Amino acid sequence: MSPSGAAVPPGARGATITGWGTALPDTVVTNADYEARLDTSDAWITERTGIKERRHGGTTAGLSVEAGRAAMAMAGVTGADVDFVILATTSPDYQVPATASQVQDELGIQGGAYDLNAACSGFMYALVQAHGLIAMGLERILVVGAETLSRITDQDDRNTAILFGDGAGAVVVEAVDGPGQLVSFDMGSDGSLRALLEAPIGGYMTMNGKEVFRKAVTVMVDSARNSMAAAGVGPDDIALVVPHQANIRIIDAACSRLGFGAEKLATVLQATGNTSSASVPLALVDALEGGRVRRDDLVLLVGFGAGMSWASAVLRWTGHLPEVAP
Ligand code: COA
Repeated sequence: MSPSGAAVPPGARGATITGWGTALPDTVVTNADYEARLDTSDAWITERTGIKERRHGGTTAGLSVEAGRAAMAMAGVTGADVDFVILATTSPDYQVPATASQVQDELGIQGGAYDLNAACSGFMYALVQAHGLIAMGLERILVVGAETLSRITDQDDRNTAILFGDGAGAVVVEAVDGPGQLVSFDMGSDGSLRALLEAPIGGYMTMNGKEVFRKAVTVMVDSARNSMAAAGVGPDDIALVVPHQANIRIIDAACSRLGFGAEKLATVLQATGNTSSASVPLALVDALEGGRVRRDDLVLLVGFGAGMSWASAVLRWTGHLPEVAP
């Protein structure tokens, strides 16, 4: 993979996150539930993936609206204040139209709306695009990562069923005077690897798990290094790492190669499984609400997914913070 990290140019019109929200369906599916139905065990799933349970249900639009509404309430804005919706998803409700159309309508947003499919890298792709649109003059953008992967997962296939879950995370990104929150980013794709994880239209996901694992560690390490190099920072400067929540062993392998201790990692996969586009915002929000981010901290987002796609970004946290963080 060739280095492609980019720093946000000085003087570019910046943006910051002013609100966030999440949504998870009510139905909890535990490892014991799979143990009862498939040739698998809680011990195997826990040891190989770190996942204990995941949520199933809802629609991608419904979860997006719930997360988006909470993000807009925290930002203190209504649909009339928001110029654009970008919905990162790999499990849209319809082939036509974009699921973002329904989200826009239900939230009363007036501007443009589209779906973005970069699989599990989608939230970073969407966040960077939102910053680009704000640099071009838009004021406020709702960025959502949402999935209902249970609909495209064969629940009788132990290779995939245990891994994936449903959920959504959303942020409001708003123009600011002076430098914004995004410092640098890296986005890439190697389409020659697309057969490693795929679902035909109307069909279920199939996956070469071993090969995905191997490639995932490499691209996460390379992409994180590209973003950090573009930002002119190293692992010691990063306060929090928010990796894509696919498998705790992938996260541990990539982060130990990068030199990040476990205390810097945000993880929610124990309770959510792999929620693809929703995984990074779910883990980011969990860390923010847990008071793990302070003003001006550097936060590294990094992910990989089907395609094979990858993305990372360094943010300097100038955005909203909850009461618990000083
Ligand atoms: N329960 C019990 N055994 C299982 C199982 C399950 N749920 N799933 C697979 N196995 C079996 C395999 O069939 C294999 O059996 P065999 O040796 O008789 O052929 C054995 O466990 C070992 O399989 P292997 O593929 O070597 O396991 P692994 O350590 O690589 O773990 C994954 C499998 C899927 C958990 C792991 O490869 C992985 O997480 N890959 C990345 C997947 C991913 O992140 N996808 C999303 C990308 S965004």
